[in-house]
Amino acid sequence: MAYNDFTMDNHWLPFTPNRQFRKEPRVFVGADGMEFTTHDGRKVVDGISSLWCVGAGHNRKPINDAITKQLNTLDYSTAFQASNDQAFIAAQKIAEMAPGDLNRVLFCNSGSEAADTSLKVALAYHRARGEGHRNIFIGREKGYHGVGFGGMSVGGIPANRKVFGTALLPRVDHLRFIHDPKHAFIHNTEPVWDEDPLLELENRILPLHDPSNVAAIIVEPVAGSAGWYIPPKGYLKRLREICDKHGILLIFDEVITGFGRLGTNFGADFYGVVPDMLNFAKCVTNGVIPMGGVICRDKLYDAMMKTDAPEHVIEFFHGYTYSGHPVACAAAIATLDLMQKDALFQRAGEMGKLLGNAFHSTFKGLPNVVGIRSLGLAAAVELAPIAGTPGKRAFDIYLDCFKKGALVRPAGDVVVIAPPYIVEKSHIDQLVNTLADSIKKNA
Ligand SMILES: Cc1ncc(COP(=O)(O)O)c(C=O)c1O
Repeated sequence: MAYNDFTMDNHWLPFTPNRQFRKEPRVFVGADGMEFTTHDGRKVVDGISSLWCVGAGHNRKPINDAITKQLNTLDYSTAFQASNDQAFIAAQKIAEMAPGDLNRVLFCNSGSEAADTSLKVALAYHRARGEGHRNIFIGREKGYHGVGFGGMSVGGIPANRKVFGTALLPRVDHLRFIHDPKHAFIHNTEPVWDEDPLLELENRILPLHDPSNVAAIIVEPVAGSAGWYIPPKGYLKRLREICDKHGILLIFDEVITGFGRLGTNFGADFYGVVPDMLNFAKCVTNGVIPMGGVICRDKLYDAMMKTDAPEHVIEFFHGYTYSGHPVACAAAIATLDLMQKDALFQRAGEMGKLLGNAFHSTFKGLPNVVGIRSLGLAAAVELAPIAGTPGKRAFDIYLDCFKKGALVRPAGDVVVIAPPYIVEKSHIDQLVNTLADSIKKNA
């Protein structure tokens, strides 16, 4: 298919420079395994699991078959006041995979909805316990929790916030970012910082608001969208302790780290820390059908059910028409079965070591490379920005890689590779060599 077989006048592309795109369209028309076919008949290797979603690779028959079967059995049914069998089975499977007593799954359709859902659960939970005054949220600089008003407010990527002014939630504060240029090169380790970045939380942020007013702290275990920034050693454990000390809920946004990216079920397992809520999306259905969700600890559900209201009264006024959509749930069940059967999470961990080795041995010393970070099956190379035009160098490199048949992800002046868990060494070599050529070309 040639791209002029369709008009580009109507589709407004998300998080994309639309003016540039119209001059140089990048349109996929097919995908299988690790590879896309483009509108002009070229092959492009998927170096980013299509935005961290396609862990099991493209066009997986067990997932496609489960979706088809579900469509022919129960295509959709109302989500409110009734439910469907697939939603219960998917929720059970997800709860079994989650650590600790993270047992209660609220489904939604995206990571953004998961963020807003988790913030709303936090407020409702505290109110149910008679602590409705706890309504301050704390996120982190450069955090990404999607594009809803809640997620945007606790998020900390300036470009995503700057035009939305007073529409952002009030009573939100942010932890400092987790990057120390002293630890610019990280290879599958947890950097040990000289100073404790959480002292600021204890000594400044919490006293400022009074901890008794804080509802929840939300962080990504590894900062994904900002460019794969890895927390210092012990950071998440200490965050858990601080939250426990002050009765603050801890939310892990695992939209990227959930379901295998670090070689474990969740980032919570990787770091040995159980949050009060765990947000997921993306890989849960292999990206094939939209789905997100929040896994809550028992105590949150129990508190909300402990009400004197008559039985016909809804306990939590929240939900989406497509919460627990039967086709999405069938896709999730088939995806998670496939990932378990093929031990894909373990494979992600093993292939991650190869990816990290390739990043560090290939990029160190190349022009403008100021940092390299690898953990799990994801790695980032950070580049010095072109003076006066931040983000341009990485974007130009992204375009060049695409032309050469490799899909990589620019994030500011960082370029990230996070391939599907089925990746082979030959793909890693292709992705890393292509990126190295482009870094040199754009020096
Ligand atoms: C950590 C995190 N939270 C939330 C989101 C938003 O997810 P969605 O785009 O599905 O709304 C993303 C998307 O990349 C993410 O990485």
